[in-house]
Amino acid sequence: MENNPGIDIPYGRPLRFLVFSASLRNDSLNTKLIRLVVQAIEKNGGHVDLASMIEFDCPSYNQDLEPAGKQPEAAKEFRNRLLANDAFVISSPEYNGSMPGFLKNAIDWVSRFRPQPFNERNLLLMSASPSMAGGNRALWSLRVPFEHLGTRVYPDMFSLATAHKAFSPDGNLADATLAKRLEDNVLNFMNLTESSIHYPCIKKAWVEFLGEKPDPVTERVE
Ligand code: FNR
Repeated sequence: MENNPGIDIPYGRPLRFLVFSASLRNDSLNTKLIRLVVQAIEKNGGHVDLASMIEFDCPSYNQDLEPAGKQPEAAKEFRNRLLANDAFVISSPEYNGSMPGFLKNAIDWVSRFRPQPFNERNLLLMSASPSMAGGNRALWSLRVPFEHLGTRVYPDMFSLATAHKAFSPDGNLADATLAKRLEDNVLNFMNLTESSIHYPCIKKAWVEFLGEKPDPVTERVE
């Protein structure tokens, strides 16, 4: 698929979202949060491609491997999954006030493909942490490489504070206000993604105004 996915996408098909938790551990709080994102996207008519950080986890970046075309399979997989979807959502842990090193490493590998796959792609950032700030500093640190790479990082980010106590036994957020805020955040991101994917189609489309008389001047506008 070409770098800008906007032009040739049929209007009306479900938007596709690559979604993953950037934690490698079992029982991850971020993975629990990302399951709720999956539910919210599907409830609002989107298609989810749920990935795991294990699939995208790469050996340490080494520029010597590039000319030989020895990029890790995990980097190719991350690139391919980005290209196969309209937008992506990451829920990231915060390690020492920043993003996990393996996530930055994967971003560095993928940034070397051409066309550069993060460019002009919509991204929603989330985090979950036992701390009171919910891992929010990891998200601010992630903005730096992503904005450098041309990614459209959604302005509103969702950070789940005291995440170890936030989930009810059924996996939902115990606090109904917080649950609504999460769903609203996801829905608003979906709406913006939809406009950026479909608006180029609308600009090119013929639009009929029903009820107007078939006058060549007023019948259709471009
Ligand atoms: C952490 N943790 C953490 N939490 C936080 O809010 N701010 C931080 O700076 C850090 N730093 C940090 C460093 C390292 C090396 C580890 C292992 C952990 C705690 C972290 O938020 C917690 O372990 C989360 O549960 C990790 O996310 P997952 O794996 O549960 O999704």
